[in-house]
Amino acid sequence: MSSAPNHSDPSSDHEPLLDVRGLRVSYQSSRGPVEAVGGVDLRVGRGEFVGVVGESGCGKSTLLFAVAQLLSPPAAITDGSVEFKGQNLVRLTEKQLNALRWRDYSVVMQSAMNALNPVTTIAAQFKDAILAHDRRSAEQIRARSVEVLQLVGIDPVHLGSYPHQLSGGMRQRAMIAMALLFTPDLVIMDEPTSALDVVAQRSLMVQIKELQQLLGFAVVFVTHDMSLVSHFSDRLLVMYAGQVVEAGPTRQVFDAPAHPYSRGLLDAFPSIHGPRVPLTGIPGSPPDLAEPPPGCRFAPRCPVVEEACHRVAPALYPVGGVLSRCLLDAPDRRTPATPVEATS
Ligand SMILES: Nc1ncnc2c1ncn2[C@@H]1O[C@H](COP(=O)(O)OP(=O)(O)OP(=O)(O)O)[C@@H](O)[C@H]1O
Ligand SMILES: [Mg+2]
Repeated sequence: MSSAPNHSDPSSDHEPLLDVRGLRVSYQSSRGPVEAVGGVDLRVGRGEFVGVVGESGCGKSTLLFAVAQLLSPPAAITDGSVEFKGQNLVRLTEKQLNALRWRDYSVVMQSAMNALNPVTTIAAQFKDAILAHDRRSAEQIRARSVEVLQLVGIDPVHLGSYPHQLSGGMRQRAMIAMALLFTPDLVIMDEPTSALDVVAQRSLMVQIKELQQLLGFAVVFVTHDMSLVSHFSDRLLVMYAGQVVEAGPTRQVFDAPAHPYSRGLLDAFPSIHGPRVPLTGIPGSPPDLAEPPPGCRFAPRCPVVEEACHRVAPALYPVGGVLSRCLLDAPDRRTPATPVEATS
C-alpha cells in the first residue's frame, strides 16, 4: 500500500473537485465574534459522497453555507479558501458565483418549504433557475423540467403544483430535482431528509444515492444522524464545536471510531434499523463557541479525559487509517499495548 499524503483530510483516489482549506467563519454578536467554523479542511473528489456529521450547533450548516458562498451577515468567512474546479470561490464576485450556482454546484436545504417559493408553481421556479443561466425556449424548459421531475419519481403533472400542494417528501424531491436541472458536479445537501419520517427518510436516501450513481455528481451531505449516512457515504467528517474531530473512510469510522466523540455519537444511534433514540451517548452539551475551552473542545464531556486535555489543543493525528483530534492519538502518546475499548 502506498502511504497517503499527510493532509488533514485525506481524500480518496477520486480526482479533486472541492478543496476547502483552513476555513473559518465567525458570526458577529453582541458578545463578540462566535467562531462557528474553526479551521476546517474538506476535500471531495469527483463522484464522491462525503458525509458531515455532528450534534446540533456544531457548525455543519455554517460550513456548507460558507462552501457554497451563501453566508450573509452577521456571518462572514474570516480565513481559508474554497477551491472548486480550480477556482477559489471566496475570491469570486457575486456575478461570477451566479454563473456557477445551479450549473456547477447546487444546494439542497433542510426544509424545501423555506427554499421553494410558496407563491409560484414548481414549473415557474424551475424556469427561473434555468433562465438565470441559459436562453432556452419554453419547450426546452418544459422538457427539462419534466425530465428532472421524472428522475426523482414525481409525476410531471405536479409542474403545475404549488409547494404546499406537495407532501413533505415530494417537496424535498422537487428541491433535489431543481438542484439537478443542470446536472452539476457537486450537490451540497443540508439534512435534506430530516423533516421526513423514518421510512420516507430511507427511501429518499436510496434515491439520492441512485441518482448520484446514475449522474456521477459528488455529494456533501450534512446530518446529525450518523447511521443515516453509514450506507451511502464514501467518507465521513465528524464535527464538534466548529472543528473536524475525525475524518476517514465511512466504514472505518463506523467499525473503529478513533475519537471519543465519534464513539459517543455512534452509541447515540445504536441500531441502523431500530427506532431513533435521544443522544444519550454523550452527557452534557457542546461548549459556547464565543468562549471555547482552551484545550480540547470535547474535554469537558469526554469519558477518557486526562489532565493535559484541558490545556493542550490537539491537532488532527493520523491513526489507523483515519484522522483523530484526540491527544491520546498523538504519536508521542500512543501506546500500542493499551487495551482497545470494547465496543458494545
Ligand atoms: N445568527 C447567529 N448569530 C450568532 N451565532 C450564530 C448564529 N447562527 C449560528 N450561530 C452559531 O453558530 C453555531 C453553528 O450553527 P449551525 O447552524 O451551523 O450548526 P448546525 O451544526 O448546522 O446545527 P443544526 O444541526 O441544529 O442544524 C451555533 O452553535 C451558534 O453558536
Ligand atoms: Mg444545520
